[in-house]
Amino acid sequence: MQQRVFSGIQPSGVPTLGNYLGAIRNWVPMQDTHDCLYCVVDLHAITQFQKPEDLLRQTREMAAALLACGLDPERCILFVQSHVPAHAELGWLFNCVARLGWLNRMTQFKDKAGKNAENMSSGLYVYPNLMAADILLYKATSVPVGDDQKQHLELANDIAQKFNHDYGVALFPRIEPFIGATAARVMSLRDGTKKMSKSDPSDQSRINLNDADDDIANKIKRAKTDPEPLPDSLAELEKRPEARNLVGIMAAVTGREPAQVLAAHAGQGFGQFKPALADALVAHLSPIRAEMARLLEDTDALDAALRRGAEKAEAIALPILAEAKAAMGFLPRR
Ligand code: TRP
Repeated sequence: MQQRVFSGIQPSGVPTLGNYLGAIRNWVPMQDTHDCLYCVVDLHAITQFQKPEDLLRQTREMAAALLACGLDPERCILFVQSHVPAHAELGWLFNCVARLGWLNRMTQFKDKAGKNAENMSSGLYVYPNLMAADILLYKATSVPVGDDQKQHLELANDIAQKFNHDYGVALFPRIEPFIGATAARVMSLRDGTKKMSKSDPSDQSRINLNDADDDIANKIKRAKTDPEPLPDSLAELEKRPEARNLVGIMAAVTGREPAQVLAAHAGQGFGQFKPALADALVAHLSPIRAEMARLLEDTDALDAALRRGAEKAEAIALPILAEAKAAMGFLPRR
């Protein structure tokens, strides 16, 4: 049997080039080698307040973007987390397994809450328990995630182990993070030391997957750089965060290694390199943008595809949830 993969992405609106090259793009080839479930995690999104109309729109936008990027409902299960209530239910069971001490160590909570922890939702605090439920509800063993989520996967393993131990079962498997070979870390166009992010106040700092061709070209043209021409060695490039970022983006969208990009462009100034990069980006992104727009025009078809995804996901999830509840001693509903 193929290894089962689960990954989730929050419906935070149209993904950026960073979300695409860093995560989504790596999900596509796994459809041919693994048994894949991909989930728009709306229950995770509401751990911080979402305007209802934004959540609704952004959930569809994210689903459309994932499809436009190459997820294929025939080859993977794509669904919305809240459509499969078993996520919330197993999440509750795990709230009763995970220890407060474990959650207190989560650095992401501390980063998100800052000095304001008292005023955060309790959902934000138990967020990692729900994430563990997402994965273990399918007994998935391989989880493509960024570095920032590795601590949550360790917690998920701690929960799985404690559950198995406390209830004397071998129900939940061990989870391994899957770090994609081609995952590119895309940085802000305004500061090569900061990750490209949807929450950056400047839209110039990022490329959104629905940006028009002109916007893409303009953002690249205005991207921060240094005055030196491109070097001919990776070692030299390492010292120049903005140059390194643009070379990395070029490599990712043209299917090359950064060294190959340098071999082709060494000695060029950014006046020459940026237009070439803008052209490559536009060539790569404009079909995705068009497909995303097409999908969002027919929300009935999109919603129907998501419903079928949820049905397939639930068919796997319900027996596993039932096993977990039986192990815990819940009276079966007969
Ligand atoms: N916490 C993840 C993030 O913010 C999203 C997520 C939720 C997830 N559930 C998951 C990722 C399960 C992998 C597996 O990026």
